[in-house]
Amino acid sequence: MNDPSTHWDNVFASKEPAETSWFQDDPTLSLALLDEWAHSSGSLIDIGAGSSRLAERLLDAGWRDISLLDVSAEALALTRRRLGDSSENLTFVNADVRHWTPSRHYDVWHDRAVLHFLVDAADCDHYVAAALRALSPGGILVIATFAADGPDQCSGLPVRRYGVDDLVKMFGPHFSLEDSRREEHVTPLGTVQPFTWVVLRRR
Ligand SMILES: C[S@@+](CC[C@H](N)C(=O)[O-])C[C@H]1O[C@@H](n2cnc3c(N)ncnc32)[C@H](O)[C@@H]1O
Repeated sequence: MNDPSTHWDNVFASKEPAETSWFQDDPTLSLALLDEWAHSSGSLIDIGAGSSRLAERLLDAGWRDISLLDVSAEALALTRRRLGDSSENLTFVNADVRHWTPSRHYDVWHDRAVLHFLVDAADCDHYVAAALRALSPGGILVIATFAADGPDQCSGLPVRRYGVDDLVKMFGPHFSLEDSRREEHVTPLGTVQPFTWVVLRRR
């Protein structure tokens, strides 16, 4: 297994967040799906959180048990600095999701634009196994990947592209599909990137 931390630390150390293709000023669809399918009284882990604004939006929405996992310590440090004292209300996990052994359960697993970087089948298996270990029974996964007609690389790395059925098949019989969406993300440079979103429930 390659170690992606050097690549991602360099990205976050050398670019302003708003210069990255995945930047969103407001994580609108994440918030809408979490509002519909989860409760702010629950626990949430954001996988590959990067320097996303999701954390502060969730704090504003009343969430109190938020964990941010990322392979890049630089990305987590950016969020810590941006949030200042409020970051003390967050749990930071510097780990590669493929090797991570959760030490507790969560009600929600959120991943925007991370799973699609796992191009090897074995890495995808590790990812699904981690989600199974981390989620409480009845908990939900909110996952956004590049769609089948989305970009074939990002940040100079190859990606896998998914339709709804591909994600349902990958997560297998332990999860059931609750919701799905297609999103056309507009990058800061104005390029359109189609995404597939699914909400899956752990049986
Ligand atoms: C395209 S960015 C998306 C960041 C964030 N989710 C967002 O929506 O702004 C991908 C993120 O995944 C992280 N990442 C990549 N591979 C990872 C892995 N194997 N384990 C954990 N994080 C990973 C990167 O460091 C980066 O922060």
